[in-house]
Amino acid sequence: MDAADASWWRHAVVYQVYPRSFADGNGDGIGDLPGLLSRVGYLHELGVDAVWLSPFYPSALADGGYDVDDYRDVDPRLGTLDDFDALVQALHHAGMRVVVDIVPNHSSDRHAWFVEALASPRGSRARDRYIFRDGLGAGGSLPPADWTSLFGGPAWEPVGDGQWYFHLFAREQPDFNWDNREVRDDFLTTLRFWSDRGVDGFRIDVAHGLAKHLGDELPDQATLDELPREGGHPLWDRDEVHEIYAEWRTVFDSYVPPRTAVAEAWVERSRRPRYASPEGLGQAFNFDLLEADFDGQAFRRIVEDNLELAALSGSSSTWVLSNHDVVRHATRYGLPVPDDPEEKRGGAWLLAGGPETELDRERGVRRARAATLFVLGLPGSTYLYQGEELGLHEVADIPADRRQDPSFFRSGGAEIGRDGCRVPLPWESTGASFGFGGGPSHLPQPSWFAPVSVAAQRHDPASTLSLYRAALRLRRELRAGEELEWTSEAAGDVVSFLRPGGWEVVTNFGGASAPLPPGEVLVASAPLGDGVLPGETTVWLRR
Ligand code: NOJ
Ligand code: CA
Repeated sequence: MDAADASWWRHAVVYQVYPRSFADGNGDGIGDLPGLLSRVGYLHELGVDAVWLSPFYPSALADGGYDVDDYRDVDPRLGTLDDFDALVQALHHAGMRVVVDIVPNHSSDRHAWFVEALASPRGSRARDRYIFRDGLGAGGSLPPADWTSLFGGPAWEPVGDGQWYFHLFAREQPDFNWDNREVRDDFLTTLRFWSDRGVDGFRIDVAHGLAKHLGDELPDQATLDELPREGGHPLWDRDEVHEIYAEWRTVFDSYVPPRTAVAEAWVERSRRPRYASPEGLGQAFNFDLLEADFDGQAFRRIVEDNLELAALSGSSSTWVLSNHDVVRHATRYGLPVPDDPEEKRGGAWLLAGGPETELDRERGVRRARAATLFVLGLPGSTYLYQGEELGLHEVADIPADRRQDPSFFRSGGAEIGRDGCRVPLPWESTGASFGFGGGPSHLPQPSWFAPVSVAAQRHDPASTLSLYRAALRLRRELRAGEELEWTSEAAGDVVSFLRPGGWEVVTNFGGASAPLPPGEVLVASAPLGDGVLPGETTVWLRR
């Protein structure tokens, strides 16, 4: 790792760690920083360039840590600031960068400022840091509007004195008022705090939600849903949110090399470059592949579109197949394509016994391997999610009384929630938690974890883990810059492209075999026949 390299983020492979489910150092069932420290060697061998840590801050875990009590500390169950420093040092020593998650849209309801707000009268300075409103009706007993939160249920919560506070997500996640200068300054302090501790970059949660303009008259939910989202919506993607990021940029650029940021912004495609602008956060997630079927032309269109979009702001593209909010891609690709496209993301298929009867596990993993190898061949930066390197499937059958995701509870179980991709990793094939820690893990692990554990895959050259390692090693060696030239026809199941240096990536998205193009085989997602590229397979060739 070249510590001075200011453009590392443009082409980095970033590995997302969900700390509570990665490795448990003290055996209490919850992953922690010492556990993660003990696995730095694993990440190094895997060959990723950076590690992104989902929140590890003090939290009641109403939303898996995205409800932050204190932005500048470590949850005591996960370790200490000293443990954090030791982790950063070890990752840097092993040549990896460190990205942490910043959650600026809302704090938790246990944050000192929110506790103070509740104890303070209406109109107070303390309440102005959040979004409080008088209720309607006698004594303010009715909510200011009928708005629903993104996790289901109402978005306004009464505080007992006729006022209500607003939360886009769970009740335990009150939204900040970003018009408040103290809020702005406090996040600048937080960015400096972690930058001073050696953090290289930040992932910005709900980056498109901070700026809000509620106005005097609140529209009802139906009206709100119909309002265009291009700049003037009361809640989403408002133009002035970028004034906040321009301030953050001055902090990022005061470090050498500048600290980086990537926006989690679910916005209209044409609005994404604003978040990726060099005057703002610099990079934005492209989630298009999370919503795409395993379809060559769909993949190709998404790649073309995103290379174009990234160029508009001078950023690099990002690619994501899995993260902690969606059904794992091995599972998505093994499920039948639903008629209703709305069903794809919600994981509705995982309800009602869907997966055990309808999931084609083998096919899902085969396609996932092909898709990953396709994506790792692209220019730009790829974000991997812990466990995908094992080809893990979603854990669908978590009993209701063990579930944790607020979206499951707030929707009355109508949304299955995201726990299925957050089950602690299997490191060993035996033991109470498959080597995750000493005792049982905080989310139950299924018996089918045994044959897909790290130990089971580590020495098997045909394993998914070995495929990821081989691909990441080659990707580093090939160092191909940012150009891409399509070599396949604009239609058909085989999609291929050439990268500088004669590196060709060929994916057969169809079910039937195709001819294998000429060239030296560098790596393949499945065994190749003689001159044959089997269906649902990617190969990297040197031409
Ligand atoms: C996006 C995060 O990725 C998700 O896990 C979280 O629930 C919401 N933001 C709210 O913070
Ligand atoms: Ca622990």
